[in-house]
Amino acid sequence: MSPKVTSPKVTVSLIKADVGGWPGHSMVHPALKEAAASILGQAKSARTLIDYEIMACGDDLELLMTHNLGVDDGEIHGLAWEAFEKATARAKELKLYGAGQDMLSDAFCGNVRGMGPGVAEMEFAERGAEPIVAFMMDKTEPGAFNMPIFKMFADPFNTAGLIIDPSLHQGFIFEIWDIREHKKVLMNSPEEMYDILALIGAKSRYVIKRVYPKAGKLPVDEPVAVISTEKLYQTAGKYVGKDDPVALVRSQSGLPALGEVLEPFAIGHLVSGWMRGSHNGPLMPCSFETAHPTRFDGPPRVIAAGFQLCNGNLVGPVDLFADVAFDLTRQRVLQITDYMRAHGPFEPHRLPMEDMEYTTLPGVMERLADRFEDTEE
Ligand code: F6R
Ligand code: MG
Ligand code: MG
Repeated sequence: MSPKVTSPKVTVSLIKADVGGWPGHSMVHPALKEAAASILGQAKSARTLIDYEIMACGDDLELLMTHNLGVDDGEIHGLAWEAFEKATARAKELKLYGAGQDMLSDAFCGNVRGMGPGVAEMEFAERGAEPIVAFMMDKTEPGAFNMPIFKMFADPFNTAGLIIDPSLHQGFIFEIWDIREHKKVLMNSPEEMYDILALIGAKSRYVIKRVYPKAGKLPVDEPVAVISTEKLYQTAGKYVGKDDPVALVRSQSGLPALGEVLEPFAIGHLVSGWMRGSHNGPLMPCSFETAHPTRFDGPPRVIAAGFQLCNGNLVGPVDLFADVAFDLTRQRVLQITDYMRAHGPFEPHRLPMEDMEYTTLPGVMERLADRFEDTEE
């Protein structure tokens, strides 16, 4: 049976939520994956979905779905919501930790954006061969993707194709969001590279949302990368859990090669969001099997699931960071972990006050308000 077709293009939707941890905030219990699979399996039989894959990174349940219904589709978002609700019910039965923590609303109203789950979706015409990577992070924030996405699509020291391959040489267009002011801007690389970096280096405020190709081999209106930008603590107005981000990146033939897409993660760069959403630490690329952050609830993790699309079917996943070539990165991340941990409650291990997701410090300030005097020196 072929799937329901409303568009000749394929849509890939990666929607994630933390609906309960096992134990604490460390990983997803298999029963939650089974609960989600029962909903997505029915949708595949009913041909609403072409295909799906259920994965986990740390305490986040990750739903990767393919279909022909376009981005922001109510039926697809409704399915994800139903899968998270069913998984939440199982999490409550098992008394898992923080059951339903990312489900900020009791009722679904057409779109999961702003309701707690994180979303990365893109619609495009599937090429003759379409390699795609789903990146999933835990214990960090959307800005953690800024440096790797920039390096993939704009840094010639990372992506040799920008220099060597005529189909990449003209560069890419970055859609950057100001997540505090809810504004966005399109910027050209390499022409505006320094200005792009001026913004995205401030990663808690400016985040790369999408990357587009320039006129050439690929349609200019179809994104080649997309990142979830939900900020849970801003959505909820108070700390209810973390906004651990996800991203989808297409690769090869006019785009960064698979190895150029993965290479930025060999740094183990510093990201924020570790322990209580309030610490900086190195991002560890790791295998699916080892994506269970337990050292001080970390260090922050990233996994990469590789697929070839075949008429919307997900041929995969391949556990891309299982490669021993990332072993040295992991060793370095462990050394940096010790070094950062040695700082305890001091910045820059602890985040600056304005970026902390827990608000205990203002409590301290209130208690001390009467005792603070003017310094007369
Ligand atoms: C959650 C996380 C953890 C928690 C920490 C405290 O994703 O990053 O570091 O913030 O375990 O959790 P609570 O407040 O639930 O006891
Ligand atoms: Mg959790
Ligand atoms: Mg998480």
